[in-house]
Amino acid sequence: MSKAHFGLIGLGVMGENLVLNAERNGFSSVVYNRTYSKTEAFLSERALGKSIEGAKDLRDFVSKLERPRRILMMVKAGPATDAVIQQISPYLQEGDLLIDGGNSQFADTERRVLELESKSFGYIGMGVSGGSKGALEGPSMMPGGTKSSYKAIEDLLNKMAAQVDDGPCVTYIGPRGSGHFVKTVHNGIEYGIEQILAESYDLMKRVSGMDGEQMADIFSFWNQTEELSSYLVEITEACLRTKDPSDGSDLVEKITDKAGQKGTGLWTVVSALELGASVPTIYASLNGRVMSSMKSQREYAESIISGPSVVDFDLGNPTNGMSPLMDAVVLSTISSYAQGMEILRLASIEYNYELNLPSIAQIWKGGCIIRSSLLTRIQNAFTDNDGLSNLFLDPWFAKQVNDRLPGLTSVVSGAVKSGIPVPCFSSSLDYINSYRTSRLPQNLVQAMRDCFGSHTYERVDMPGSFHTEWIK
Ligand code: 6PG
Repeated sequence: MSKAHFGLIGLGVMGENLVLNAERNGFSSVVYNRTYSKTEAFLSERALGKSIEGAKDLRDFVSKLERPRRILMMVKAGPATDAVIQQISPYLQEGDLLIDGGNSQFADTERRVLELESKSFGYIGMGVSGGSKGALEGPSMMPGGTKSSYKAIEDLLNKMAAQVDDGPCVTYIGPRGSGHFVKTVHNGIEYGIEQILAESYDLMKRVSGMDGEQMADIFSFWNQTEELSSYLVEITEACLRTKDPSDGSDLVEKITDKAGQKGTGLWTVVSALELGASVPTIYASLNGRVMSSMKSQREYAESIISGPSVVDFDLGNPTNGMSPLMDAVVLSTISSYAQGMEILRLASIEYNYELNLPSIAQIWKGGCIIRSSLLTRIQNAFTDNDGLSNLFLDPWFAKQVNDRLPGLTSVVSGAVKSGIPVPCFSSSLDYINSYRTSRLPQNLVQAMRDCFGSHTYERVDMPGSFHTEWIK
């Protein structure tokens, strides 16, 4: 019996869909899951009639694969991934390749690459984005590791990935943990955009009194514009149109307002702080989830702390897509991407990842959760200027700011006056206003630091390092 081209460990939703994707693209497969009953169920249902066989244990699994073996792990990040690596390592041979397709912390991948490449088989840490549908139909994939290991799976990944006009949504990212690092930042941007869209929904509902259908119409309008056409805007429309079958009301209003998180947004912010990247929009989205989880405290606080009594400002005419609100969404979304790209730019230098920013924008254009037409502009911006230090300095993006800053400002000031929290909109506005200000008040911070701690300061009018006795 001929051996399988590809092996998959972990039959969760993503694993099942990825192996069906590989098989559809001509790669006969073998699957292993810790609980064999799950494997049996998969083989008798979704995998029925396909070139997919099952294995009861890892020895059997490895023996059913052609060499060099190509094995994708889709297991829970953290100790579960380490456990699988430990269990399978004794059966692997020179040239074999183990790929971690989970949402692993990039530092874990760095450690694993160091440990495993000293054994003779290859190891790739690969970010996979696109949810269950993307995994089946074509995800965006971010593989990092040695180039030679990547070459061994290039044909497979090129076929499995989503396809856009300029190629498949996969490319070699860089060495060691770079693939998982880039996926982490992708998720940070994802958190930002999700919160931005949630803030726009909240304003439409609370300020303009719109219902689900009316709001969905605005998202549909936005999704037809170059600036906002995206997967997340598209699914927001779908979420807002969905009704609760029990009473026909908007289902979204029945959902508890507590957002979960699995770690990647937090890791993005921690990495940004370590690298010295300014990411207030992404941080605000993370904090929005943290604040949302404090439900009982918020309920009590609402009963004892009051805000402005009038909620009344102009979000714009729905027939032209509520243009000030659209301005706020566009500039905040660009801020989320700009901050993510800034983290990547700095990480590339600090960790020697040699990241190719236009290629990363290219592979995010299809398959992944943050896919959008803006990514073509982002790809072009970093292609036209490979030393671009911030997306807002690109002429097209600078024009967006100049055209849309009044709209964002009016939305934030209206929300502030009405006591409605808009953490991502207001952080984005501060980000842009700070970035376009050549003289910030940190001269006074420097004076205070020198006053109490003799930390010294630089002067604008002469070179050198200075100290003053501020208190005589
Ligand atoms: C993707 C997603 C996915 C992520 C979920 C949940 O790109 O397909 O980023 O990998 O796990 O979105 O993330 P949170 O639970 O942290 O929101």
